[in-house]
Amino acid sequence: MLVSAKEMLDKAKAGHYAVGQFNINNLEWTKAVLLTAQELQSPVILGVSEGAGKYMCGFKTVADMVKNMINELKITVPVALHLDHGSYEGCYKCIEAGFSSIMFDGSHYPIDENVAKTKELVAVCAEKGLSLEAEVGSIGGEEDGVVGMGECADPNECKMIADLGVDMLAAGIGNIHGKYPANWAGLSFETLAAVSEKVGAMPLVLHGGTGIPEDMIKKAISLGVSKINVNTECQLSFAAATRAYIEAGKDLEGKGFDPRKLLAPGVEAIKATVKEKMELFGSVGKA
Ligand code: 13P
Repeated sequence: MLVSAKEMLDKAKAGHYAVGQFNINNLEWTKAVLLTAQELQSPVILGVSEGAGKYMCGFKTVADMVKNMINELKITVPVALHLDHGSYEGCYKCIEAGFSSIMFDGSHYPIDENVAKTKELVAVCAEKGLSLEAEVGSIGGEEDGVVGMGECADPNECKMIADLGVDMLAAGIGNIHGKYPANWAGLSFETLAAVSEKVGAMPLVLHGGTGIPEDMIKKAISLGVSKINVNTECQLSFAAATRAYIEAGKDLEGKGFDPRKLLAPGVEAIKATVKEKMELFGSVGKA
């Protein structure tokens, strides 16, 4: 079922667990995430960055693929199709394409402009039944060419944005997209606790889920994180399994070059990573 992310995240916040957002890149990715969510009876959020949307031939192609796959695979768990780090224009494109959830990342604008644009999108999303994520304080690292310095969010600015009526809030707490560098200082739980106190029942979003140690994930959930984004880790699992298949010469045996065979180990590896994360986040059986 394609649904807005609001209900699943409100339930997660109240139940002290988190729903995973897994970014998708192609048909195999999408199928792997959906089948794992169904098998584990977990709600799930499919994240689509603007770059991945372009790669997959546009947001409409993605929305139609996801809706048809949900029908064809008989997926009954709640699934939200969510724009990841959307630009102002990208948000409108996804609303039109049939996404059920969007993130407007106005963190690079001055706070007044972030507030004004987020406010406008709150009204549009409320009218159309989509959920909306906003961001304050940028996430570090690089994703699809968008580079963030990773500063910690100002809790007062978080409250300003939360009070506009968004459904979830991404607050920078020292998290970084991609692999964490060896000298990473870790998540700022001080910032997270201060933001949490300001925004009350608002579900918080932790970006850069790849490579955050388990104890930090659990602590973040205990302090109000209800959505955790994972992208790079599935890419690394997929690439490692594909490399092993080719290095073992399996593509040269029989019809091992058939894409359905060639990509199968990578797909299984994505499923294993998604399963591991859903277990860690506590969303198994919460559909
Ligand atoms: P990672 O690629 O570090 O897992 O981050 C994903 C993310 O935050 C998507 O918005």
